[in-house]
Amino acid sequence: MHDIDALVRGRRSVRTFEEKPVSQQDLEQLRAFMAQIGNPYGLPVAFRLLDAKRQNLTCPVVVGTDLYVGAKMKKAPYLNEAVGYSFELLVLYAQSLGIGTVWIGGTMDRAAFESAMELAEDEAMPCVSPLGYPAKKMSLRETMMRKGVKADDRMAFESLFFRNSFDVPLTKAEAAKLAHPLEMVRLAPSAVNKQPWRVVVTDRAAHFYLKRSRSFGGGTLDMQKIDMGIALCHFDLAAKEAGLAPRFVQAAPGIVTKDGEEYIASYQL
Ligand SMILES: Cc1cc2nc3c(=O)[nH]c(=O)nc-3n(C[C@H](O)[C@H](O)[C@H](O)COP(=O)(O)O)c2cc1C
Repeated sequence: MHDIDALVRGRRSVRTFEEKPVSQQDLEQLRAFMAQIGNPYGLPVAFRLLDAKRQNLTCPVVVGTDLYVGAKMKKAPYLNEAVGYSFELLVLYAQSLGIGTVWIGGTMDRAAFESAMELAEDEAMPCVSPLGYPAKKMSLRETMMRKGVKADDRMAFESLFFRNSFDVPLTKAEAAKLAHPLEMVRLAPSAVNKQPWRVVVTDRAAHFYLKRSRSFGGGTLDMQKIDMGIALCHFDLAAKEAGLAPRFVQAAPGIVTKDGEEYIASYQL
């Protein structure tokens, strides 16, 4: 994938699709891409294409397509961060083909999707997405949903990113070469658009923390940890594209947290 900036800025959640099946050529490309997706946690994620009509799957926020992709994996520590990274790679790749997606973690008949995914006892299905060509006009429900979560807004750069400690906001100018990878994090999708990612930048690293919203508890499936995986993906892709050779590590740097932020992972530069 190239031109991460265009893919990240061009993406939005798509819940209203044109009534036109995804072409065979696009399907083949998606399948080939899915087969080689990895993540920095080294946890395999299996993707499956699903047919909502044939398999009786319902997702009330989506109209105009029956094609879905589901993701499943073995239950393991860091499964949420890992699937966040891997599934977002697929979302951005689909975007490069002109195919719309929306992360769906909640608003679906989960039991039906899990059964269609043939989920085993020791597996989890964190999320699914519809696949199709975006309709020109959004459904009323989609327009209302976007308004409800202020889907077009993001928090300010200085509220999300910090310099050396959580006490010092980082400006774009100070972020220098990291300004763009961090901006790609800022524009990421997140569950209910809560934007829980916080990053503390030091001389040689960017440390990612989760600032949990009260409405989201942790658990085997943890939407806000998935959000963190998405943020890691955007940062990694943009930093690589800029030639920064980011190196993924899990080693808490001992920065004093301010508001219960949870350490997730770092990129050393
Ligand atoms: C982990 C995750 C789970 C989500 N679950 C749902 C969902 O169940 N239903 C839904 O309509 N949107 C869901 N979304 C989409 C978000 O609401 C959306 O990304 C956010 O409002 C920002 O809008 P944008 O994607 O258009 O930038 C989810 C997003 C993420 C990252």
